[in-house]
Amino acid sequence: MFTWTVTQGATACSSLRPSSLLLLLFLLLLLCPLPSAGSHSGPGAAVPRLPRATNASSSAATVVGRHVRSSYNHLQGDVRKRKLISFYGFFLRIDKNGKVNGTKNRTDHYTVLEIKSVDVGVVAIRGLHSNYYLAISKKGDLYGARDFGEDCRLTERIEENRYNTYASAEWKNRKKFMFVGLNANGKPMKGKRTRRKNTTTHFLPLLALPALGV
Ligand SMILES: *[C@@H]1O[C@H](CO)[C@@H](O)[C@H](O)[C@H]1NC(C)=O
Ligand SMILES: *[C@@H]1O[C@H](CO)[C@@H](O)[C@H](O)[C@H]1NC(C)=O
Ligand SMILES: *[C@@H]1O[C@H](CO)[C@@H](O)[C@H](O)[C@H]1NC(C)=O
Ligand SMILES: *[C@@H]1O[C@H](CO)[C@@H](O)[C@H](O)[C@H]1NC(C)=O
Repeated sequence: MFTWTVTQGATACSSLRPSSLLLLLFLLLLLCPLPSAGSHSGPGAAVPRLPRATNASSSAATVVGRHVRSSYNHLQGDVRKRKLISFYGFFLRIDKNGKVNGTKNRTDHYTVLEIKSVDVGVVAIRGLHSNYYLAISKKGDLYGARDFGEDCRLTERIEENRYNTYASAEWKNRKKFMFVGLNANGKPMKGKRTRRKNTTTHFLPLLALPALGV
């Protein structure tokens, strides 16, 4: 059968700003003693200092290495295979004709999506089996686009209730964001009628496990 895992942490890396990385590096520089500092200590004078310095610098290197790696991955576009379940329990699906709506059928193949970072905080969402990209038109219509374009650039954000929202990164309606939304009956919402605070725009990414049949 199917196993679902909520992956709220999956988008955490998108909130890592370059400025926070710089701050981290700066703090590490402050914490790590310079190599020359050790050479001033006389023989046997401060024996415990050297091991401590070694431990400190090696763990710092690990931390830096990890952060640098994940931020590179992010820019190169990590791909996540997910299902997006709405606040009201509908899986977002993009069918073979590019139609977007919701379904409660967990085994519907058109609910398997690929979420890929295309820019800092911006993702592309593609139906794995339909090959259409989730898109919001300038007028705010939700549809599947055959080719990746400006309509397909979606700003992913974690809201206060830990649900994600997906707003058009390209188009606004009277200075207001237009979101991907499914109403309480699983029907697609007009972007112009969507609001960040309204649960019709709230989704949780669930891990889709291909080995188990999806
Ligand atoms: C390095 O740290 C580990 C635990 O973090 C400790 O067990 C080990 O003794 C330390 N090594 C040195 C040389 O201080
Ligand atoms: C759910 O989707 C699967 C795969 O498309 C299909 O075989 C099955 O009949 C659907 N179930 C319902 C209850 O519609
Ligand atoms: C979504 O569209 C499919 C296919 O047209 C349909 O079977 C399903 O009932 C629709 N879902 C909703 C919530 O209307
Ligand atoms: C959320 O949006 C729906 C559909 O537009 C609307 O019926 C409902 O009143 C809204 N709820 C809130 C709390 O704004």
